[in-house]
Amino acid sequence: MGYADALFDLTDRVVLVTGGSRGLGREMAFGAARCGADVVIASRKLDACEATAAQIAAETGRTAMPYAVHVGRWDQLDGLVDAVYQRFGRVDVLVNNAGMSPVYDKQTDVTERLFDAVVNLNLKGPFRLSALIGERMVAAGRGSIINVSTHGSLRPHPSFIPYAASKAGLNAMTEALAQAFGPRVRVNTLMPGPFLTDISKAWNFGDANPFAQHALQRAGEAHEIVGAALFLMSDASSFTTGSIVRADGGIP
Ligand SMILES: NC(=O)c1ccc[n+]([C@@H]2O[C@H](COP(=O)([O-])OP(=O)(O)OC[C@H]3O[C@@H](n4cnc5c(N)ncnc54)[C@H](OP(=O)(O)O)[C@@H]3O)[C@@H](O)[C@H]2O)c1
Repeated sequence: MGYADALFDLTDRVVLVTGGSRGLGREMAFGAARCGADVVIASRKLDACEATAAQIAAETGRTAMPYAVHVGRWDQLDGLVDAVYQRFGRVDVLVNNAGMSPVYDKQTDVTERLFDAVVNLNLKGPFRLSALIGERMVAAGRGSIINVSTHGSLRPHPSFIPYAASKAGLNAMTEALAQAFGPRVRVNTLMPGPFLTDISKAWNFGDANPFAQHALQRAGEAHEIVGAALFLMSDASSFTTGSIVRADGGIP
């Protein structure tokens, strides 16, 4: 095994990715399996989870477990955790990736129901999953939790206030959970900038390059999240916790 392979090795580790069926989560799950991990693909649509899990298993030879769950509903999260521990006996990496970013025209278009849905999925669900799995990780003596936030949590805009606020809460939660679960369990924020996934299909910027002010002057391809994710999943980041790792193309 080469030096870098050993540093990023995830052989026989169990990596649970919420929202792992498509977009950034799918890429991160593939990346983990390519580094030797067994993976759990958890999102609402079972058929999508099954399809991605089958592709990962076929390509990597690793075990990939599909599981249908609404991460915004706490009453469904115990079932997910129980099923994963029953199957694998442990979780080494939890990636709280599932998220939503609704678009709206004006602030009064944001209903209480919509605001609650955003907070439930982007903040409350990750808290509950981190609580349930983090305490088991502490008991097992190791683990890494990755909370997928957004650059918009640091640079909020009127067009996505509930999203920015929920993800800013996630950033705060990361720091506190790193204290709660240390010294053997690490908790970090992975902070993407604009990536070309299903989320980006709702963007409408006209003809001008909306990323002209960013250092790389473009949006990321989904696979470009993987390097930063593998860093946080693996022992390569053994002295990194409570931190924010930005993968945003250099937003000023
Ligand atoms: N793309 C970007 O530009 C960007 C930028 C900054 C941050 N992010 C963050 O990165 C994360 C992933 O974004 P993405 O662009 O990859 O999104 P995406 O392509 O829209 O994929 C979202 C994933 O989450 C799942 N999901 C959605 N609602 C769910 C729910 N209630 N419960 C469980 N799973 C659910 C979806 O599967 P189902 O439909 O089957 O549930 C899907 O697997 C999000 O947290 C997002 O906020 C993205």
